[in-house]
This record gives sequence, C-alpha cells and structure tokens, in this order.
Amino acid sequence: MISRERRDRIKSVLIRYPALFRVVRATYITYASLQREVFTLFRFAPRLIKSGLGSSRDRETWQRDLPVQRPMSVDAGSVTPTLNPQQIKAWCSARKLPFFEGGDAIYLPPQTWRATPLGPVLPGYPANAGLKIAQQAGNADAPYVMARAGRAVAQKLTFPHRLQTLTFNYMHLQGVAPRLYDLIEIRDGSKVVWTAYVVEHVETSPLQQGDCESMVEKLRSLERSGPLKLISGAGWSGMDFEPPNCNNNLIRDAASGRALYVDVHNFILEGYDAHLRGLAETVTEQSHFGGRSRLLGGKRGSFLYQEIPGLDRPAKRSPRMRLQAWDPLLERAGVSIEGKAVFDIGCNLGLMGAEYLRRGARWMHGWDQPDVAAAAHQVLLSIGCTRFSLTGGALRPETDLAAGLPEHLRTIGNDGAILSYLAIRGHVGWLPGLDKLPWRYMLYEGHQEDADLDTYVAELNARMPVRLITTDRVSDGVSAPRDIALIERQPRA
Ligand SMILES: C[S@@+](CC[C@H](N)C(=O)[O-])C[C@H]1O[C@@H](n2cnc3c(N)ncnc32)[C@H](O)[C@@H]1O
Repeated sequence: MISRERRDRIKSVLIRYPALFRVVRATYITYASLQREVFTLFRFAPRLIKSGLGSSRDRETWQRDLPVQRPMSVDAGSVTPTLNPQQIKAWCSARKLPFFEGGDAIYLPPQTWRATPLGPVLPGYPANAGLKIAQQAGNADAPYVMARAGRAVAQKLTFPHRLQTLTFNYMHLQGVAPRLYDLIEIRDGSKVVWTAYVVEHVETSPLQQGDCESMVEKLRSLERSGPLKLISGAGWSGMDFEPPNCNNNLIRDAASGRALYVDVHNFILEGYDAHLRGLAETVTEQSHFGGRSRLLGGKRGSFLYQEIPGLDRPAKRSPRMRLQAWDPLLERAGVSIEGKAVFDIGCNLGLMGAEYLRRGARWMHGWDQPDVAAAAHQVLLSIGCTRFSLTGGALRPETDLAAGLPEHLRTIGNDGAILSYLAIRGHVGWLPGLDKLPWRYMLYEGHQEDADLDTYVAELNARMPVRLITTDRVSDGVSAPRDIALIERQPRA
C-alpha cells in the first residue's frame, strides 16, 4: 500500500503529463481492486462458498447474537427497600401521582417516575421517557408475561425481556409502537432485580372511529408479510384487539395524529434472519464506502462497510473485532466505556456505536451523511439498540457538533464522554467542532495508507492540547492494518 503522502507526491509530478497520468491512474485502480479481491478471497473464502451454497447460519445466529446492546443496570438499594408493584402503587397513590396498571406491568409517566426515589439514580433519558416496570421480578432474561390460568400458550412462546426489545423496535420501525429508549435491570434494597422498559411517553388525543379496526388490519398484515407473530392465547379475536380501544392498548398520538399499539408483548418475532437479510440489502448502498468488489458486491460492486451483528455477511470492517482489539488498550489505561456517552463521528451504520452499547455505554450519538444516518437508525433499532441518537448532515469545518447533541446529554462533562474518531480524519480532517464537544478520551483510528501517527497527533495538538496514551495496529474485515491510538484531552493552559 502506497502512503497518502507518497501518492500525493507522485500525483504532483504526473499531473504535468495528462496522458501518462490517466494510464498510471487506471493501472493503479485496477491493481488496488485486484488486490482487494485476492484479499477478500483469502479472508472470506469459506463464508463466501457457504453462502453461495445457500447454507446460511443466520437462522441460528440472530437469537444468539441479538440484541447487541447490554441492558442498563442500576443499583437502587440505597433509595428504595423494594420495587414490589404493591409498594409502587401505594407510594404513587399517597402522593396523587398518576400511574397505569396493566396485567404484566406498571407504567409510570415521565413526571411520576422522576418524582420517585428512582428519579435521581436512573441515568438521564429524553424528557418524554416513561417507565414501564414488569410486575414479575426478574432480570432481562426473565419472561415479560406472567404465568396465569389460560395463558399457557403465551407463556411457552413468549420472549424474555432482552429479546422483546427487538419486537419493540421492529414495531416502532413499522410505525405502530412508540420508541423504546432502554431496558433497565433495577436492583432494590432487598437485592431483588426488576426489569423496566424506558419508553417514549405519548400525549394522547381521543381515538377516532375505526382506529381499532385499522390497527388490527395493519398488525395482521405485518404478521402475514414479515417476522411479527401473535402469541396471545385468544388470537385475533381476543379482547386486546376489540374495539373501541383494544383493551386500552390503542392510543392516538396527539402530536402526529397516529394510532399506536402499546402492548408489544402480545407478539414475538419469527424468521427474523430473513428480515435482517432484506434490511442489509436496503442499506448496502448507503453503507458502502471506498473501492468496490465483485466478490462481495456482485455486479454493482457495493458491499457493507460495517458487518451487521446477527447476520453472517462479510463487510469491509468488523466492528466487533475492532473493539476487541481496543479492549486490552483500554484496560491497561484504566479507561472504561461503561456508563459513558460515546460520540461517534462519521458513524456509518452506527455499528461501532452498537459495540460501545454492548460494553454498557450510557448513550451513543453518531454523525454521518443524512442517508447514511437514516440507514443507521434502521439498522441500530433492528439489532436491538435503543440508547442512541443520530445527526444526519455533511460534516464541515464549520459544523457545530455540540448543537446536534440531544437535550439529555447537554449537561455532560468531559469525564462522562468518549469520542470515537475512527477512519474519518482523512475525510474531514480534525473538525474544529471537536473542541466544543465534551470528551476526555478519544478512540482514534487512522487509515490504511496513512503516514506516521505522530504527524496527525501533532496536527490535533495544534488545535487543542492532547496527549497520546497508547497505540496499536488493527486489521479486520477486508482491510489492511491501521494505527489505533488512545488520546487524552488535556486542560488548556
Ligand atoms: C471510512 S468510513 C468510517 C466509518 C466508521 N467511523 C468506522 O470506522 O467504521 C467514513 C464514514 O464517514 C462518513 N463521511 C465521510 N465524509 C463525510 C462528511 N463530509 N460528512 C459526513 N459524513 C462523512 C461516510 O459516510 C462514512 O460512513
């Protein structure tokens, strides 16, 4: 691989001889793409042969690999002796705070849970976040549905909370459910763990005639055409689908005028691998970045830049392997991603962000071009991530990165955030907006054809004081080794 500097020097000479320049350029492009195909063949031959023979492992992998995001975990032992549903109800009733009780959960609207002792100990969420606490104690691997007479079928088929985040996100992407912001395991003072869903609270307007029938038709059509599967023992004729309000599961969002179905727990997902494959097809063009490959991308040549978890499909980079390369560096430096907000500049499909969420990051905010950010939104939700937000737009020197942050991250200090600047410097330089973003540590990755790492660290240092903590090299996917470096921001003199 020729370094960026050397290439520029050769270019500056050849540019004086246009015919020769064109020949050398075409030869170099052919050479580089041949090199990529050979590399691909060596690294992915068994996987490519397997998928060519139609023996995909996806059928088994999605339930094992998803959701990628680790549930948030909070110890509320010091603020509440118990989260027993009876106690929660009594506490709220005594203070006249509104709450809603369903068969399997208690729902606390935003102003209610923020007024409880849980308010100060839970992480910051968007202002419109409500809290739905499962009535049955258990961690994220426990089933949501409570065992009751007449519920045998549902009990057998039901998903644990962890997998149910996929169903929630799927229904949200189809426009029939509110947004899920998180799944939290809360340990009370008696050391009992309760699982809660942090969900978008919807201000409602009255239902209109026909809302229930249209919703049921929409849900039935989703079941016919995709991975959604109804598990309720009573089927479509059960009271959860009866007019006028689907047993209080149907609401109308006053802001958008849309009807939403709030009990996603009547459903699970089946054959989700086919859905993920379809999704990968629809986002390949947006994710693709750099040279094309016939082997990976067929006639069009475009292929995924980042591997999608749960799907056995090679890509240019493997976020999972990349973060594994970071783990020992972070450990040696005593830097943890857990509980931090991570800012990912040029995030592509957001899948490095998904890996940060796997390590327990509190939130991930990513920036990329509008169509890429829209694809990232679909992919992140589809692999079970919820603690994220994205800004779509071209990154320019004048981009105010801090202005893109969601409200609940605006008060974060440098120690609470990590910057992810991976394979992006060569495309946008060191963005001046980095200075106004809160972060203490930067996870930096260079490019395959880079010069010495020190050159770039010195460039950054000229803009803002930083210190290089440790470095290494990483090689994954169809990519040659690149420098990685853990960089710490220093106080301004
Ligand atoms: C080489 S990829 C790196 C992606 C990701 N950081 C990673 O390492 O996996 C560069 C990403 O930056 C985005 N990008 C490049 N230039 C950009 C710009 N000017 N504005 C917004 N996004 C840009 C591309 O769309 C692409 O997703």
